[in-house]
Amino acid sequence: MATTVNPPNASDADSVDEIVRAVASLAPEIRACLPGRRVERGETNPSGETQLAADAHADDLLLEEIGAIDDVVEYASEERESVLDVGDGTGLSVGVDPLDGSSNLKPNNTMGTIVAVYDAPLPASGRDLVAAAYVLYGPITTMAVARDGHVTEYVVDDGTLEAVREEVELPADPLVYGFGGRVPDWTDEFAEYAREVESDERMKLRYGGAMIGDINQVLTYGGVFAYPTLESAPEGKLRLQFEGNPIGYIIECAGGRSSDGERSLLAVEPTDLHQRVPLYVGNEGLIDRLESALA
Ligand code: F6P
Repeated sequence: MATTVNPPNASDADSVDEIVRAVASLAPEIRACLPGRRVERGETNPSGETQLAADAHADDLLLEEIGAIDDVVEYASEERESVLDVGDGTGLSVGVDPLDGSSNLKPNNTMGTIVAVYDAPLPASGRDLVAAAYVLYGPITTMAVARDGHVTEYVVDDGTLEAVREEVELPADPLVYGFGGRVPDWTDEFAEYAREVESDERMKLRYGGAMIGDINQVLTYGGVFAYPTLESAPEGKLRLQFEGNPIGYIIECAGGRSSDGERSLLAVEPTDLHQRVPLYVGNEGLIDRLESALA
């Protein structure tokens, strides 16, 4: 268990419960709506990616449910330009990636929903997270929830939370790796690190095009996932508020490490709602080696 995460106070804890239950209750509906929403909307999201009808629909459902929770005062999503005020006074801010990896919808592969609960206005630091969670739409619909330094995996097929794995920890002997971005676009330093990881005969490649699927592999088998700095995109592809912070928090609560190449993702200064960040997460030894390789 990491020691760097922020424990929620008692009233935040109740609100986190409500948020987690709301997301779990929506999971079957978000999933059920996917088959009819494989078409593109003809619009792009604030990060310039093609929006599918499914992205927007999941975002609307999440806004309605999460925005109605008393203690939630801000809602933001990867699909919206700016933060929405959904409550008065001070309270929690929720950032969501409604459908992570939605380009996997066409080929009918895994996708997820990511939720970050901050006790600060957005854009916020990962140090302000009081909980983070993701739903994985795999053969089974599961949800990993990190709070108070612990990670629990639930089955949420029917919209209720059935705990199936408590105190989830990255296995000590890592087995899988997945690295995003075109290989010719990697920096020389990252390419060298990748060769080193690949040359370990225990390690197998697992890259599915939806971060949540790949992260769940790392959480299950141990290993490393990266969407690195690219020559053409020094900040990589993934977004700090909706992807980097919550995934860093979950992996750190599960005993692993997160990094932007130099420091924990949770220590990256937030400057913009849609800012991108190079993302490296996994077993401590693998992330230590990565930081040495990039230094
Ligand atoms: O937008 C986020 C995302 O879909 C991640 O879920 C995934 O890891 C990545 O982009 C895939 O990117 P690429 O298509 O470049 O492999």
